[in-house]
Amino acid sequence: MSNLTETSVQDLDSYLKSQENKELLRFITCGSVDDGKSTFIGRLLWDSKLLYEDQLATLTTESKRVGTQGGDIDFALLLDGLQAEREQGITIDVAYRFFSTDRRKFIVADTPGHEQYTRNMVTGASTADLAVILVDARKGVLTQTMRHSYLVSLLGIRKIVLAVNKMDLVDYDESKFKDIQSDYEAFARNLDFEAVKSIPVSALKGDNITDAGGNMSWYQGPTLLNYLETVEFGTDLNSRPFRMPVQWVNRPNLDFRGFSGTITSGTIRPGDTVVEPASGKTSKVDKIITFDGELPEASANQAVTLTLKDEIDISRGDVICETKNRPATADQFEAKVIWMGDDPLLPGRNYQIKLGSNTATAKISNLKYKVNVNTMENLATNTLSLNEVGVCNLALDKALTFDPYSENRQTGSFILIDRFTNATVAAGTIDFALRRADNIHWQSVDIHKGARSEQKGQKASVLWFTGLSGSGKSTIANLVEKKLHAMNKHTYLLDGDNVRHGLNKDLGFTDADRVENIRRVGETSRLMVDAGLITLVSFISPFRSERQMARGLLEDGEFLEVFVDTPLEICEERDIKGLYKKARAGEIKNFTGIDSAYERPENAEIVIDGAKQSAEDSADHIIEVLKKQGMI
Ligand code: ADX
Repeated sequence: MSNLTETSVQDLDSYLKSQENKELLRFITCGSVDDGKSTFIGRLLWDSKLLYEDQLATLTTESKRVGTQGGDIDFALLLDGLQAEREQGITIDVAYRFFSTDRRKFIVADTPGHEQYTRNMVTGASTADLAVILVDARKGVLTQTMRHSYLVSLLGIRKIVLAVNKMDLVDYDESKFKDIQSDYEAFARNLDFEAVKSIPVSALKGDNITDAGGNMSWYQGPTLLNYLETVEFGTDLNSRPFRMPVQWVNRPNLDFRGFSGTITSGTIRPGDTVVEPASGKTSKVDKIITFDGELPEASANQAVTLTLKDEIDISRGDVICETKNRPATADQFEAKVIWMGDDPLLPGRNYQIKLGSNTATAKISNLKYKVNVNTMENLATNTLSLNEVGVCNLALDKALTFDPYSENRQTGSFILIDRFTNATVAAGTIDFALRRADNIHWQSVDIHKGARSEQKGQKASVLWFTGLSGSGKSTIANLVEKKLHAMNKHTYLLDGDNVRHGLNKDLGFTDADRVENIRRVGETSRLMVDAGLITLVSFISPFRSERQMARGLLEDGEFLEVFVDTPLEICEERDIKGLYKKARAGEIKNFTGIDSAYERPENAEIVIDGAKQSAEDSADHIIEVLKKQGMI
């Protein structure tokens, strides 16, 4: 840079300006290496001369050395080189490559095509305007082609290029191309695409990539690059309703309060009326402030700070919106969910939801069906495994502001996070808000938990016994209840085996059923505490997530977890109900400790050593703790 002359600085400036003013098309390529994806992207980059000199030199020598093209340039090597970088962890998720032509700028998201990489594909597709779906002319439309097409349709991509590649290997046969084109069009009719453009290409030989070449004179349409340069795309975000999720409330001193964020859609000017939909509070925009000073107007994708004419309470996570066309604010909605967790989805389990910069606790309240993305069939299910897509209702612990995904990809999408591992386990797109809770209000009652407990001379609470089958939970819980009863305390004992004869008769022992088992028992014990009772709960309750959920339903100090810690060998030796023997013989499936997990509590209030302490001593110890804590 140091030896740039005055003119070349001007050249650079005008070059950057011209780049700035060019339209940007973001697209994703779908297909596996076998379909020629690497060669295809390599060819685009090569032909648009956007490779660095050193990359070009290496490619030429490497092609001679190890290439598969007999001394010609092997474009796949270029991408494979980048691929190797990725494997070494340099690029984590998706490789975004930038190139430009005289007419447009492009960002291509290159994602691996195999099923195990669905999450990368989802990431790449969520910001793309168009998808190039590659098929091998010898193989035609494959299951994988349909999978990719379904996913890009789900993620809101409406323009498709079907690149029928490797035409050189089918002698540039027009009928081969036509067959594949009509197969794909028939399939794609069920998907929500606006336009499907089929183009016969050979990425290897260069036919119809940037130049037509002379091999397919029967094809009159544009080359692939030509199509990418001219296709109309994208919805005009600026003409959509104004939305700005607040990322940060900027308050350097008492005289200034600004709301900072990136505008996701719409246009805003000082004087416009805006609303925070959750509270319904409105105000007018005073100033639009940016790094470069105040603006008379700002629109989609600009990062700005807004100041308002009135002091209204807006925090991080809220969405500032125009008043005429407001988003929904609701705590329940229907969504499509792409499961990315290694552990399967468990309906009823609490996950953390992140929607824009807002978070809440969410559970799948109803998993309606999963979609077989290879056949488009809807299948009944009670779980989703890695890479499966399902349609479900979600219930949140508080209302959030959102739009349907079809109207706004940013305010209409979310992720789910595992609350213990912090891993992202799902990506979702919102279909619509559910209004079912709108007309149900809390009925106010005059007698409260406190009054009911006081009348009974106790503090209502839950003693939650957890441990393996045969650990001694029920025996100890039973003794504790007897002792409390003798002290004139008002109690109730919820025991796994008993509740499973009635309320939870419909549940078995799969992970999903156990989650639901504990959800119901958690809710029931909350009602019992509300009734003023000392509630004893004796369930294996093997998952910490659901024990945490049950705890979360109660107030601080109301929930005591009692871990009856008896080693598996001892429980198995006792085998009071003969169930371990059956489980070992394979007659019972999913038996806790044998072929179903037990997650040990880490912070139980009371730990009983089930191997050493007698049931009687354990019960006395628990009573002592209750006394010490002033609960009885
Ligand atoms: S939980 O895991 O969902 O909390 P719960 O406490 O309700 O289990 O029920 C456990 C009782 O069911 C055990 O004490 C045992 O008597 C019986 N049972 C039958 N099949 C199984 C199984 N596969 N795993 C564990 N317990 C089982």
